[in-house]
Amino acid sequence: MDRKISVIGAGFVGATAAQRVAEKQLGDVVLVDIVEGIPQGKALDLTEAAPVEKHDAKITGSNNYEDTAGSDVVIITAGIPRKPGMSRDDLLATNAKIMKSVVTEVAKYSPNAVLIIVSNPLDAMCHVAYEASGFPKQRILGMAGVLDSARFRSFIAMELNVSVENTHAFVLGGHGDTMVPLPRYSTVSGIPITELMPPDRIEALVQRTRNGGAEIVSMLKTGSAFYAPASSATEMAEAVLKDKKKILPCAVLLQGEYGYNDLFIGVPVKLGNKGIEEIIEIKLLPEEKIALDKSAEAVRGLVATLAKLNY
Ligand code: NAI
Ligand code: 2OP
Repeated sequence: MDRKISVIGAGFVGATAAQRVAEKQLGDVVLVDIVEGIPQGKALDLTEAAPVEKHDAKITGSNNYEDTAGSDVVIITAGIPRKPGMSRDDLLATNAKIMKSVVTEVAKYSPNAVLIIVSNPLDAMCHVAYEASGFPKQRILGMAGVLDSARFRSFIAMELNVSVENTHAFVLGGHGDTMVPLPRYSTVSGIPITELMPPDRIEALVQRTRNGGAEIVSMLKTGSAFYAPASSATEMAEAVLKDKKKILPCAVLLQGEYGYNDLFIGVPVKLGNKGIEEIIEIKLLPEEKIALDKSAEAVRGLVATLAKLNY
């Protein structure tokens, strides 16, 4: 295949993303992990599924970044996940070290790649990736808004007993408890959910969305969600690789947009083959802007902690 996608971290999210990318035939896949044997074994297993799944993507497992050379898109999932009782922010110091070392290698071998960051705490990890790569801001995308919006869409579909395909939703802000689901911009076949549900039900779905990651952690006990995160990262990769001009909520570096400076936070962007082609500034009501400000402050606090760490 003529496109190349590397996935760093062959754990739950990474291996599932590799599977989705290959099955959608977005390109050849290189799966990399620090642990010997894991990426090789999972890549071989995925390769042996290909005749049944009917795709010709080449899937390689490796512990060596040379094999990622010339990637068009690199999805970074390396790091440790949450356990019950841990917040995403508890992962900061460990994952910052991992992110810096991974991105330094990735950038050396794929200087033109678009990076899709998945590791948590997401918004802070985007800052680490931006600095370690030296890439322009258009090529650093954080995956969170697509996942949080997909959760919100699922809950809307369950509540109204409608097809998920009829739902659209926007969740902005940082990927944490302060994220900002926007009911006014969340619709069923174009009808805002504010016309379809009473305020108390909307509030319940908003809270469930904010708690969506923790809800799954509390059930799994030994790790965090991976199917929907892998689907979300793959949707972003597909938008880039196919130059779709798709509008998705992604964590991107804001420099003045929405009134924030030098901060990665989730907002709607247009994705094409260069990465971010446009940051879309939607009009917010005063209470929505206050909620986004609170979320931005939470991310700023993490970035300040990051700056004090010697990673
Ligand atoms: P996992 O533990 O299954 O996989 C992580 C993989 O990273 C492991 O295979 C590990 O060996 C590898 N790894 C660790 N250090 C590495 C290094 N220096 N180089 C290469 N590989 C390395 O974890 P899982 O569930 O796949 O989650 C991965 C990350 O993604 C976590 O930080 C998690 O919190 C985050 N996440 C973020 C989401 C989001 O919405 N942004 C959603 C779900 C997970
Ligand atoms: C999630 O939202 C843990 O960030 C991860 O599922």
